[in-house]
Amino acid sequence: MSKLIPEKTLHDGLTVPSLGFGTYQLDGPPGVHAITSAIDVGYRLIDTAYNYENEGAVGKAIQQSSVPRHELRIASKLPGRYHEYKKAVTAIQESLYRSRLDYFDLYLIHWPNPKQDHYLEAWQALVDAKRWGLIRSIGTSNFLPEHIDRLEQETGELPTINQVELHPFFNQEQQRAYHHEKNIQTEAWSPLYRIGAIMDNKTLQNIAAQHEKSVTQIILRWHYQLGSLPIPKSSSANRQRENLAIFNFELSDSEMGLINEMTKPDGRINDQDPAIYEEF
Ligand SMILES: NC(=O)c1ccc[n+]([C@@H]2O[C@H](COP(=O)([O-])OP(=O)(O)OC[C@H]3O[C@@H](n4cnc5c(N)ncnc54)[C@H](OP(=O)(O)O)[C@@H]3O)[C@@H](O)[C@H]2O)c1
Repeated sequence: MSKLIPEKTLHDGLTVPSLGFGTYQLDGPPGVHAITSAIDVGYRLIDTAYNYENEGAVGKAIQQSSVPRHELRIASKLPGRYHEYKKAVTAIQESLYRSRLDYFDLYLIHWPNPKQDHYLEAWQALVDAKRWGLIRSIGTSNFLPEHIDRLEQETGELPTINQVELHPFFNQEQQRAYHHEKNIQTEAWSPLYRIGAIMDNKTLQNIAAQHEKSVTQIILRWHYQLGSLPIPKSSSANRQRENLAIFNFELSDSEMGLINEMTKPDGRINDQDPAIYEEF
C-alpha cells in the first residue's frame, strides 16, 4: 500500500492504512479533483457513503488515478432507509454501479436506527454480499455495544470496523474498550471536530508548539496513538499532505493524558446519540 502510512490488519485479514480520507461534501467536479489529489498525495483508504451522493465522484477519481485498484481500500455505507434485506442487497449493488466498481473493500451499516429495528436484516445482507464477492470486509458505523452484541448473537459475525464520532472533545473511552475486547477496529468520524473551536484550544496549541507541528497534526497523532483510525476530510492538497505527516513524531504519555482530559460527556458535535438519533 502507501509507504507513507503504517498498516493495520482487521480481524478477517484485510489490511487497511491506519489513516484514511473522508469525502463528506466532496462531490461534483471539485469533489473528483479533491479525491484525485488525496490519492495522489498518498491516501489509500477512501470513505464514502450512499447518502453522500458522491460514490460517482469517488469512482471517477479511482478511474483517473494511476494507483492500482488492489492498493486502494474503498469503503461505502448503507443508508437507514434500505435496512430491509432486499432493499439492502439492491442498495449495495446500486452503490457499486454508481462507483463503477466490482467490489467494495469495506461496506458499513451507516446508523443502527434502533427504533426501526431492521439492522439485523441489513447485517444479513452484508454477510451475504460478502459471500457473493461484492464486499471484502463488513462493518458498522455508529453502533453501540448493545447493537453489536445482537449482531454477534444472531449471526455469529462481528464487524471488522465500527466507525464512530471520535475527537478530543468526545474520546469514546468505553466504546473503544469494548471494540478492543471484541477485536473490532475503531474508526473515527469527524476526527478533527470539523475544525472550528478546536483550533483555538490552548492545550492543543501548546503541544503543537512543543513539537513544531500543527493542531490538526497533534489531533491526528493522538488518534493514531489511541489506536483509532481517523478519516480526516480536506478539499485542499496542502492540508491533505499536512494531515498525513504524523508518523515522524510521538506524543508523550502526559501529552496524551492532557488531550484525553478534554473529553466531555456532552462533547458530541451535534448531539447524535445512536441510541436515539436516526438517519435515513
Ligand atoms: N459515519 C458517519 O455517521 C459519519 C459522520 C460524519 C462524517 N463521516 C465521515 O468522516 C469524514 C471526516 O469527518 P468530517 O468531514 O465531518 O470532519 P473532519 O474531517 O473532522 O473535518 C473536516 C474539516 O476540517 C477542515 N480541515 C481538514 N484538514 C485541515 C487542516 N490541516 N487545517 C485546517 N482545516 C482542516 C476541512 O476543511 P477543508 O476541506 O477546507 O480543508 C473541513 O472543514 C467525513 O468526510 C465522512 O467521510 C462519517
